[in-house]
Amino acid sequence: MTNETIRKLLSPSADTDNNVWEIFHENSKVGRYSYPVLPESFIVARMKEMYESLPYDEYPNIDLPRKLTPLRLSLDESILNRVTSRKMEPCELSIEDITTILHYSYGITRDNQESKYSRAFRTVPSGGALYPLEIYFHARYVKELDNGLYHYNPVKNSIQHLINKDLTTDISKTLTSIQSNLAFDTSLMIFITAIFERETFKYGPRGYRFVFLEAGHVAQNINLTTTAMELGSVNICGYFDREVDELIGLDGIKHSTIYMVGIGRRLEE
Ligand SMILES: Cc1cc2nc3c(=O)[nH]c(=O)nc-3n(C[C@H](O)[C@H](O)[C@H](O)COP(=O)(O)O)c2cc1C
Repeated sequence: MTNETIRKLLSPSADTDNNVWEIFHENSKVGRYSYPVLPESFIVARMKEMYESLPYDEYPNIDLPRKLTPLRLSLDESILNRVTSRKMEPCELSIEDITTILHYSYGITRDNQESKYSRAFRTVPSGGALYPLEIYFHARYVKELDNGLYHYNPVKNSIQHLINKDLTTDISKTLTSIQSNLAFDTSLMIFITAIFERETFKYGPRGYRFVFLEAGHVAQNINLTTTAMELGSVNICGYFDREVDELIGLDGIKHSTIYMVGIGRRLEE
């Protein structure tokens, strides 16, 4: 394969001077005279029109416990020991373990009642405190939960059971072939998804950058929390976007999966 062929594969619709990522980056820059300052009333009104967390009211709701699993490692130990687990196996987890991972990844830490902007604050920073992300997960081997797909609602500190069926095989098919085993090797598969409009209504194309930066914060919290719980984790971007979105029931345009994290017992390599 020539360098030219590789370049075309990476950027099929553009020539070297017009890579899609370059066009996007250039068009999402803040210019001294181009930064839009929206009226506060507009921002408050738009925020009120959008869910803080998708409700899924019609699905079975499970309240999460207040009690969290005590962490075994300190922050410095967790940072220094964090590693992508290349060998894992599924392990039994408790509802407290799941709650610990979810709460530290995107849970609510303090309210925001003093402010006109009605979103409560979370464990991660968020551009404009707009919290564009949603968290879904597929659970297996969780003592108190049936296998299947769940949605996490941080506002209610609860989860909604969206699909009551083991989807391990379906998930493995959505992963690129070299890593389809990750669905079987893990107990939890977390899907970090984004409702882009929650951020772009205020920040335009630059808001699209913010969404991914925030997902990085969430994933890092998951990685550090699982390390501190002496579990293994692997962050995953090698998946077929449309197929994952279809599995979860997302339209893939306004709301799409942007990151996945698999969690299991870490085996010695
Ligand atoms: C954005 C992003 C996407 C990634 N996607 C995958 C993936 O699809 N599969 C995988 O096995 N590892 C994936 N990784 C993990 C990297 O391969 C890993 O972080 C890197 O090799 C460094 O190793 P370490 O995490 O053990 O320090 C991803 C990491 C990041 C930050």
